[in-house]
Amino acid sequence: MKVLVVGNGGREHALAWKLLQSQQVEQIVCVPGNGGTASLQRCRNLPLAVDDFEGMSRYALENGISLVVVGPEVPLAKGITDYLQSQGLMVFGPARSGAQIEASKAWAKALMQEEGIPTAKAAVFTDATAAKSYVKSQDIPIVVKADGLAAGKGVIVATTLEQAEDAIDSIFQGQFGSAGNFVVVEECLIGEEVSVLALTDGLTIRPLLPAQDHKRIGEGDTGENTGGMGAYAPAPIATPELMTRIQTQVLERAITGLRNRGIDYRGVLYAGLMIAPDGDFKVLEFNCRFGDPETQVILPLLDTPLEELILACLKQRLGEMPPIAWKPGASATVVAASGGYPGEYEKGKVITGIKEAEAAGVTVFHAGTKLNQQQQIVTDGGRVLNVTAIGENFQQAIAQAYIGIKSIQFEGIYYRKDIGHRVLK
Ligand code: AMP
Ligand code: GLY
Repeated sequence: MKVLVVGNGGREHALAWKLLQSQQVEQIVCVPGNGGTASLQRCRNLPLAVDDFEGMSRYALENGISLVVVGPEVPLAKGITDYLQSQGLMVFGPARSGAQIEASKAWAKALMQEEGIPTAKAAVFTDATAAKSYVKSQDIPIVVKADGLAAGKGVIVATTLEQAEDAIDSIFQGQFGSAGNFVVVEECLIGEEVSVLALTDGLTIRPLLPAQDHKRIGEGDTGENTGGMGAYAPAPIATPELMTRIQTQVLERAITGLRNRGIDYRGVLYAGLMIAPDGDFKVLEFNCRFGDPETQVILPLLDTPLEELILACLKQRLGEMPPIAWKPGASATVVAASGGYPGEYEKGKVITGIKEAEAAGVTVFHAGTKLNQQQQIVTDGGRVLNVTAIGENFQQAIAQAYIGIKSIQFEGIYYRKDIGHRVLK
């Protein structure tokens, strides 16, 4: 089987790496991929944009691709699945109608409210005056969200009334493009966040191991938000008892709600949850795809061949599969970032020490890297590498990841030294 993987992050490198472990998978083509996918055996990059559906379709049909696995939300929200399926290709990832669950926070909120999925109390507005007068009637802090996709930047946790009002203005003034046609204002929840990614064939939904990521740039989870500076799995906060409740109150209700709306959702449904100190939980958001960097810690622990699970979802046979098998132990990833990220940073710095790190027992998933003309791996983004390790427990996995990252060098390298602090306590 030849598989096309869409995307260019650490998540897509991990997907390609995992798929290549299956005997059934002969070759991967990554669109557009990165320096890591370019360096994998039996994997090559195809330099097309992730929304060049026609280009991908032509390539796939001419080159015997039998499966397309989509990483990022943007092509899903633009209908990559609808288009490629209409050309006769099998695509793992929901159609545009299903991707709304991530691409419209107002739509997702309505689904949650109507299906009885626990979520923060919220109201949706189409104009600034009404949104601001609502905010005045609510407690501060309060959360203001742009409706649509905003590359993770459309959520403002406002700690003053003024911040909330500014956020409302900037969203309606178009700072997030068409993501700003609606504003969702919701109560601010406290607790610990956990990511539950689940596979679904539209009927059955099965969770993967719960994961936690570190979103802030600074140690102690301080400073600016990022795309994620590290992650680990399985997150102990999501106890088996809690996972059972999440299964019935979140995952099954969501998939029923989608089905009731005529949406045949086959792919990953990712629930971002806030677990309150008393153990109560609420959904913060749904995503229509694998998480990044959660995927980089979940897949190394997955024992069932990934392509079997994906095909079971696409053939609507997930319910017939034996339980998903996992390796024992724990997994952690530490992100090596370019100095200055999430602000401005330079690109093109030569990276050394990846082979040495891998010899020390880690797996290095590339995020923002590419091969330059001299075939050197160079930095090409804010988050550069995900240095990933598994171990018998969190102590081992995290220590191993840090041993690995010490071998890696590029000008300006930055990484957090406290990934996993919650589970090491
Ligand atoms: P979202 O894209 O909706 O998950 O929001 C991004 C991040 O904003 C989440 O991961 C949380 O850290 C934060 N956030 C979103 N909604 C809330 C909320 N209701 N209360 C507190 N923090 C939130
Ligand atoms: N790690 C957060 C996300 O993938 O959205």
